[in-house]
Amino acid sequence: MDTILIRGGASLKGTIPISGAKNATLPALAATLLTSEKVHLSNIPHLADVTTMLELLGQQGAALTVDEKLGVEIDNRGVNNFCAPYDLVSTMRASILVMGPMLARYGQAEISMPGGCAIGSRPVNLHIQGLRAMGADISLGDGYIRAKAKRLKGAKIYLEPVTVTGTENLLMAATLADGVTILENAAREPEVVDLANMLISMGAKIQGAGSSTITVEGVEELHGTDHDIIPDRIETATFIIAAAITGGDVLLTNTQSEYLAVPIENFRQVGVDISLEGEGSMRVRGNGGLKAIDLQTSPYPGFPTDIQAQMLVLNSVSEGISTVTETIFENRFMHVSELQRLGADIKIQGNSVRVRGVDKLIGAPVMATDLRASASLVLAGLAAQGETLISRVYHLDRGYERIEEKLLALGADIKRLSE
Ligand code: UD1
Repeated sequence: MDTILIRGGASLKGTIPISGAKNATLPALAATLLTSEKVHLSNIPHLADVTTMLELLGQQGAALTVDEKLGVEIDNRGVNNFCAPYDLVSTMRASILVMGPMLARYGQAEISMPGGCAIGSRPVNLHIQGLRAMGADISLGDGYIRAKAKRLKGAKIYLEPVTVTGTENLLMAATLADGVTILENAAREPEVVDLANMLISMGAKIQGAGSSTITVEGVEELHGTDHDIIPDRIETATFIIAAAITGGDVLLTNTQSEYLAVPIENFRQVGVDISLEGEGSMRVRGNGGLKAIDLQTSPYPGFPTDIQAQMLVLNSVSEGISTVTETIFENRFMHVSELQRLGADIKIQGNSVRVRGVDKLIGAPVMATDLRASASLVLAGLAAQGETLISRVYHLDRGYERIEEKLLALGADIKRLSE
């Protein structure tokens, strides 16, 4: 298994392009199942989770043409297998996203039940309830969700709590349903809007994406499209923090500041100098004098749970005591004990943590526990004195494209050690 070795202390300088968003790519790939025509997707990030989704589509009979630069073309005419097996779903919960499209277009889907994961129990009851409300016949047994429907019917569905992939699954299913579907308390994340835009370009009739109520008028069929994936706001935020805590000066390109309005405001409150440099670029300067702030995670447009772990690192190297509260996932503080190994002063109190800023972090061997936790360890390693050796970096590879290469290009002392 690969490890990443970082010698902290280098100030990051230079320009780095942000990759396409993982969480927009996965539903976009699933959405290709809604049509028999070819779909071309560009700005696809090279990530383990994307490979897993491509593998899943391939197993179902899709013909895939992958071009490193141009993206991927998917031809679903040959799809004849409607199962998402345990080995794929267990490595990536987002495999559940194929359920809605498969059911809507082929009338059947058999999906391995996603189990628990490092950040909590993460049920899929709302996906199931929503599809049942649309007339699907769903049974659970032997670890599988088995769903059947002649043609799904439009329905009014209230989602509580707000769920991102739940909204996406039902949105995709509703595009081919008979009648009108209204999703209430829908997720408003930019990735949901990106999916809706792609579906609209395929002929779907969708209104309200980006608001809490999405209305979909089902159509008989969808056609192919060419869709460019939006930039990854979580990667963007991770690089903003990297520049800030190393006293760097970094230009981030190919990104979108509007997807990060709240976090950018929060980073500025801490004292990070962020200037928006026109179309898709932002310059981040870490000028020291950082002051920790209190915040809590919440669904979009609030502060994303996917940046909470990285935020703990920013607060840890800032002056003062702060409280960060996690409201989305029950157990998303696995990174705290690893950050403590690097000298962070963080105490867990229920679903909050209390962070006392320290003068310096000191390198140590640490272990990645989940995707965003791994990013926080990389950040901490960049700011720490001495060497940090991160193991289990396969978590990192699920969601960050060539992170060590990008950081190396910015002057970090970082390398991947392969065994
Ligand atoms: C998505 C993102 C993930 C992000 C998360 C929250 C993808 C591929 N992943 O995950 O990176 O951290 O949103 O922003 O886009 N819930 C239920 N029942 C359900 C579904 C969800 O109770 O059927 C609960 C969850 O346990 C959690 C909350 O709803 O407490 C939000 O989870 P959800 O938005 O569904 O997360 P994902 O879509 O899995």
